[in-house]
Amino acid sequence: MTGALEAVRARRSWSKVTETAPTRAELLVLVSAAGRVADHSSLRPWRLIELRGDDRARLGAAIAEAQGDDEPSAKPLRAPLLIAVVASYRPSEKVPRWEQEAVASGVAHVLSLLLDEAGWGVIWRTGGYTRSQAVARMHGLGEDEELLGWLYVGGKPAGARPGRRKIVDARTKLHRLPAAADPASTEPGEEKPAATVGKKAKKKARKRAKKAEKKARKAERKARAQD
Ligand SMILES: Cc1cc2nc3c(=O)[nH]c(=O)nc-3n(C[C@H](O)[C@H](O)[C@H](O)COP(=O)(O)O)c2cc1C
Repeated sequence: MTGALEAVRARRSWSKVTETAPTRAELLVLVSAAGRVADHSSLRPWRLIELRGDDRARLGAAIAEAQGDDEPSAKPLRAPLLIAVVASYRPSEKVPRWEQEAVASGVAHVLSLLLDEAGWGVIWRTGGYTRSQAVARMHGLGEDEELLGWLYVGGKPAGARPGRRKIVDARTKLHRLPAAADPASTEPGEEKPAATVGKKAKKKARKRAKKAEKKARKAERKARAQD
């Protein structure tokens, strides 16, 4: 077991995998852990579907139907196990669909990471057919369900190296807010909306007011002493 930082840094997608796959029992442990992702109102708006053996041929046929092809697609045969990731939207006034999709997506990312750390090769795949009727029907999706794609899972081939993506330059990704408008530039009688006055500007204004008060008190004391 490695730390989270190490596991995330080491994770790679494996586009080619061998015919070994985690058992259902092994998967259950990882799925339960992946379900720990942040989840507004704990709606658990997701589910997963295991596709093994002939299930994959059925997916190949559904892909062909969606694409209008004569031959079934062989794409699902690229791994012994496919895990379909399903967003199962729950009725909620508080949690919109996009938040629920974020939860389902989080589960898929964490599950990929856990599988990778457990020694399995994984790649998240989609296609133009992902949200087609034929593919939804074949998975038995409900009216309020949508696919987010499939995790293709298998063994990591011995001696093979997965592709490497360039490391993200965090400085280009971690930003600050644009500068707040200077409250001093406000025209007399014109008030700025609270949201446009930044914390820093407010602190500066408080400091200025305190300094002015101190100066006024000093001048008052001096004047009294001269009386
Ligand atoms: C929602 C989603 C869909 C994806 N669909 C595909 C796909 O259809 N084909 C593919 O080659 N990569 C797809 N990817 C990207 C791969 O899963 C993988 O991230 C990419 O090959 C980079 O490899 P890496 O994860 O090791 O950096 C998808 C990723 C996500 C998150």
